[in-house]
Amino acid sequence: MAVALIVAAGRGERLGSGGPKALTNVAGRPMLDWSVRAAQAVSAIGTIVVALPGNYLNKAPRGTIGVVGGASRSESVRAALRAAGEGDVVVVHDAARPLVTPEMFAMAIVQFERCGADALVTAAPVTDTIKQVSAQGDMRVSATLERSRLWAVQTPQVFHRPALEWALSASPGQLARATDDASLIEQGGGIVAVMPAGDENFKITTPLDLRLAEMLLTGRRGR
Ligand code: CTP
Ligand code: MG
Repeated sequence: MAVALIVAAGRGERLGSGGPKALTNVAGRPMLDWSVRAAQAVSAIGTIVVALPGNYLNKAPRGTIGVVGGASRSESVRAALRAAGEGDVVVVHDAARPLVTPEMFAMAIVQFERCGADALVTAAPVTDTIKQVSAQGDMRVSATLERSRLWAVQTPQVFHRPALEWALSASPGQLARATDDASLIEQGGGIVAVMPAGDENFKITTPLDLRLAEMLLTGRRGR
């Protein structure tokens, strides 16, 4: 059985909804509940641990273990992992991606077990051309990256527990700089595989994202 860690302890500053982003209402329920329900529908997932902001432990959905998150996303993952029981396969997911489906979780676990990597990340192909600017801050282009090789990384991400534990043993500074835990594994020479996923599993960051998610999830409610 895999354990699932759903991180929901962020402040949601860019959304600016006046409370924690993951608890903002989307299509009739807290954003977090959409991901929890999707994970609960997956037979390969056993325990679900949710990392929440300090004063909101009582918001852990029914059937989950609630823990207080940390100062950075990776520290929240670490807090959740400590509370998870046995299980060598760990699925990490952002509550900020409420459009995840049970099929996405299940596929990611199956592909991870097949591929033999230390971690597997879901990702969508990049559709924009990406230019890198110089480090001097003068907004001059230093490179145009080859788009066919670029992937915009999402969650779910699946890990061998020892690899994730090793990644999360980094210093608080390194953890704060890492926007995902898989990048820590890459830096340590571990193997990270990519599973193509749809772009509907976008992250809610801004009010525009929230409006779009509201539309799409309202359409799913009857299902
Ligand atoms: N997260 C967390 N603990 C933190 C920071 C982030 O559990 N200390 C979680 C968020 O709740 C979210 C996911 O990590 O589900 C991705 O983070 P992000 O989209 O940046 O969310 P916030 O940090 O809440 O938003 P912002 O950066 O705009 O404040
Ligand atoms: Mg953040």
